[in-house]
Amino acid sequence: MVRIVETSVRDGQQSLFATRMNTEEVVKLCKIFDDAGYHAIEMWGGATFDSCMRFLNEDPWGRLRSVKAVCKKTKLQMLFRGQNILGYRHYSDDVVDMFCKKSIENGIDIIRVFDALNDIRNLRQAVESTKKYGGECQIALSYTTSPVHTIDYYVSLAKEVEKLGADSLCIKDMAGVLLPEDATKLITALKKEIKLPLELHSHSTAGVCAMTYMAAIRAGVDIVDTSLSPLSDGTAQPSTQALANSLRGTEYDPKLDFEVLAKAEPLVTAIVDKYIANGTLNPKSFEVNPNILTYQVPGGMLSNMISQLKEQGAMNRYEDVLREIPKVRKDMGYPPLVTPMSQMVGTQAVLNILSGERYKVCAKEIKDYLCGKYGKAPAPVDEKIRKKIIGDEKIIDCRPADLLEPEFEKLKEQYADIARSDEDVLSLALFENVAREFLKKRYGRNEDKADEFEMFI
Ligand code: CO
Repeated sequence: MVRIVETSVRDGQQSLFATRMNTEEVVKLCKIFDDAGYHAIEMWGGATFDSCMRFLNEDPWGRLRSVKAVCKKTKLQMLFRGQNILGYRHYSDDVVDMFCKKSIENGIDIIRVFDALNDIRNLRQAVESTKKYGGECQIALSYTTSPVHTIDYYVSLAKEVEKLGADSLCIKDMAGVLLPEDATKLITALKKEIKLPLELHSHSTAGVCAMTYMAAIRAGVDIVDTSLSPLSDGTAQPSTQALANSLRGTEYDPKLDFEVLAKAEPLVTAIVDKYIANGTLNPKSFEVNPNILTYQVPGGMLSNMISQLKEQGAMNRYEDVLREIPKVRKDMGYPPLVTPMSQMVGTQAVLNILSGERYKVCAKEIKDYLCGKYGKAPAPVDEKIRKKIIGDEKIIDCRPADLLEPEFEKLKEQYADIARSDEDVLSLALFENVAREFLKKRYGRNEDKADEFEMFI
């Protein structure tokens, strides 16, 4: 029997309409999903946290508690970016620890941790803390293709994941580039070499995902991620109902309750219709995009690049930029194109083409990456190019977070004016400006008034 993780309220909506589903919609759906027989519901982390505060004026922690209150049977799962947590810089170990503690206290059962570079050192603290607070820890390895990303590479990383004490392993194919035949080989090899439950996460962007899932299931994968139709396919996961129907009566039957799924469908349809009508969901997102397989570029990265080129009035260089991406990736030691590397490599490719000279202009993030501040590149970076970009700047080879002092208590002091709980401090630590605006509205006072008030004490 294969198990299913329902992704519609996290990755489904994040991939299709920029994570704008509100808490009421999420809670209503999760209440129904709880009876469907899923392995877990992915409902938190990724971009949901930022989006809650930035666009919806809602507390992400409150969403988590509300969903927990209606989900009594099914485990709740979140996506967590290693030492970055949900933000964009490396946080000290005590902040990672506190975030795991509070996520579990507020209702998360399974924390899926990944690192863009698959640098295992960036996962260690999150694994340790998740286990310490009684959570289930899954490590996800970012899947990509390159001369170094071979089956042996993934098998040897998977063995390290097993040693690290993770409860399960996920192959995370964020761009949807894993083909059926490669999935058969990869899953077969992993099942032979490791004992951990194995999950596959991919996207339908290139139109091959459902076929890849079938190949992976036959090769022995234990869990796959799907999204309830019509919030499925395109840039999201394949349809839950289609996969469950395809497996009906076979030894792999996930035994989902179709009556329960049918109850959720009209709600999902209404949500999809609403976001199409208000322009948040572009129906083009449901189209098959085979270009992904040619350029190995995730959908989100392509749309970012197109908007950068449009801003510069340089859409005529689009093909040149597409051809530049694999070159930049090679120079950088083949990082998988997942956040934040996808944005960094994409932006650099645009700069290389538009400035007329490769690496004449570089973003700070690329400089930091070349100094080792994101962790270890999968393959050696091009030394000539590194020299050109960072000169004699010091390169670190330790785990980047080893250079950080504990910071939670300092953050608590720093945000004492506005934070009323450790959860608030964590929101501020991750997205300072967005969280400050949100909390100001929530607690109904602005900073000036707070100062005035303190003056009278
Ligand atoms: Co995904």
